[in-house]
Amino acid sequence: MKIHLFLIASLLFIFTNANVRIVGGDDVNITQHPYQVSLLYNGLHICGGTIIRPRTILTAAHCTDGFISKELSIRYGSSYINTGGKVINVKEIHQHPNYTKKPIDYDVSVLILKSSINNASTRIANLANNTLKDGTNCIVTGWGTKFEGGPASNSLQKIILPFIPLNICNIYYEGYVKDRFICAGYLREGGKDACQGDSGGPLVVNNTLYGIVSFGNGCAEPRSPGVYTSVLAVKDYINSVSKSKRHYFSLTLHANIMLVLILFNII
Ligand SMILES: *[C@@H]1O[C@H](CO)[C@@H](O)[C@H](O)[C@H]1NC(C)=O
Ligand SMILES: *[C@@H]1O[C@H](CO)[C@@H](O)[C@H](O)[C@H]1NC(C)=O
Ligand SMILES: *[C@@H]1O[C@H](CO)[C@@H](O)[C@H](O)[C@H]1NC(C)=O
Ligand SMILES: *[C@@H]1O[C@H](CO)[C@@H](O)[C@H](O)[C@H]1NC(C)=O
Ligand SMILES: *[C@@H]1O[C@H](CO)[C@@H](O)[C@H](O)[C@H]1NC(C)=O
Repeated sequence: MKIHLFLIASLLFIFTNANVRIVGGDDVNITQHPYQVSLLYNGLHICGGTIIRPRTILTAAHCTDGFISKELSIRYGSSYINTGGKVINVKEIHQHPNYTKKPIDYDVSVLILKSSINNASTRIANLANNTLKDGTNCIVTGWGTKFEGGPASNSLQKIILPFIPLNICNIYYEGYVKDRFICAGYLREGGKDACQGDSGGPLVVNNTLYGIVSFGNGCAEPRSPGVYTSVLAVKDYINSVSKSKRHYFSLTLHANIMLVLILFNII
C-alpha cells in the first residue's frame, strides 16, 4: 500500500509552478464555495484551506510542517489558481501539537492572518457538530492534480463523494486510519477523489465543514477511499487556539515590553 499525502508532491512543484486539480471533478465558480482558499508558499499554490473566521484559516498540518509564517499566504475570492482574488499574509501557524507524519495523525493547522478577509463574496464555513451517516453526499473542492502525479486545471474543481464510516474505511487501509479521520469515496468504481494539491481543503455538507483533505492510497483508485482529518475530532484544539488569542497577544506585548526594558538596561 502506497500512502500519499494530498500535498503537492515535492518542492519541485513549487518552483516549476505546475498547475493541478481534483480527479473526476467539474469546473466550479468560487462564489459557490466562498469558504475555499488557496494556501501559497512564497506566492504559489501548495494546498487548499477553509475560512472559519474572518482572520482564521483551517488547513492540514502536512501543508505547514517545516514552514514559517512569513513564507505562507492565502488567496481568496478567485476561481483560478495563482491569480485573481486577494492575497493576505499568514501571521501565525498553529500546527496541532500531536501531529505526526508516520503514522499520520492530527493532520490540522490553524492559520491566523495578518488582516481580516473582508469581502461580501466570501463566507465562513461552520464547524461540524455531529458525525455523518454512511453514504451522505459530501462536497470536496480544490485545485489539485487531475490524476496522480499529473498536470492541472487552472480552475477550481468540485466532486461529490459518499461518506464512508471509519470501520469500513479501515478494511481497505488495514487499520492505518486513526480516529482523528473520516473517509469518503467510491469504493467499487473509484474515479473521483482528492489528489495532490487538494490537501488542506474542505469536505463540506450543507456549508458545514466535516473534513480537511489529508491523504489516500494513490488517487481515485477503487477500494482506496480518500482520507480527511475529522473536524469534529480536532474541534477542541481549533477552538482553544482561537479562544486563547487575546491572552496570547497580551503575553506577546508583555514579552516585547520586557525586551525593550532589557535592551535599555544594556544600553
Ligand atoms: C463567478 O460568478 C460570478 C457571480 O455570478 C461572476 O461574476 C464571475 O464572472 C464568475 N466567474 C467565473 C470564472 O465564471
Ligand atoms: C471580493 O472578491 C471578488 C471575487 O474575487 C472580487 O471581484 C472583489 O473585488 C472583491 N471585493 C473586495 C471588496 O475585496
Ligand atoms: C494529544 O495527545 C494526548 C495523548 O494522546 C492527549 O491527551 C491530548 O489531549 C492530545 N492533545 C490535543 C490538543 O488534542
Ligand atoms: C455547532 O455548535 C455551535 C455551538 O453550539 C454553533 O455555534 C454552531 O452553529 C453549530 N454548528 C452547526 C453546523 O450547526
Ligand atoms: C443537509 O440539509 C438537508 C436539507 O435541509 C437535510 O435534509 C440534511 O439532513 C442535511 N444534512 C446534514 C448532514 O446535516
